[in-house]
Amino acid sequence: MKVPNLVILDEKNKVLHQVSKEVTFPVSKDIQKLCQDMLTYLKLSQNEKIAEENNLRAGMGLALVQLGILKRIFVIAYEHEDKTFEEHIIINPKIISQSEELIYVGEGEGCLSVNREVEGIVPRCARITVEYYDFEGNKKQVRVREDIAIAFQHEIDHLNGILFTDKIDKKNPYKDANKMREI
Ligand code: NI
Repeated sequence: MKVPNLVILDEKNKVLHQVSKEVTFPVSKDIQKLCQDMLTYLKLSQNEKIAEENNLRAGMGLALVQLGILKRIFVIAYEHEDKTFEEHIIINPKIISQSEELIYVGEGEGCLSVNREVEGIVPRCARITVEYYDFEGNKKQVRVREDIAIAFQHEIDHLNGILFTDKIDKKNPYKDANKMREI
């Protein structure tokens, strides 16, 4: 499989701090194809050999704004232990319920738009339920937890012009660690 040629914006690009617009239906074939390419890119990026050969960083989520398109769409490709991928294409998402329990990624979150190691805690809900639309405009719902819930919240932030680095307390990056569960 060939790695789709995607130009991913760097954090210095101001477009990443803009709020993406609601999508109208039906979604164009071009955007549908782009979403499939984004999923392919993410899956290949998680394959060590392919990532090394193509100089890719591993990622499990990507929002359209990271390609410079201000539409409220993101995709997730999450690899389970049995090597199968769980894929999501999420349009106009809304978090309709969230757990009180907070979690954070101990080794720090990553982002294909942030080409550096960033230490610190990004508080996330352990479980969320999200309402969203598919390409045809059908309303759907999904409940996600743990790593995938973090990925969803990270991507929803992108749609609102927020990077994970914006959420880390600059003076005290590990603030409130004792109030949250590390994963
Ligand atoms: Ni990101």
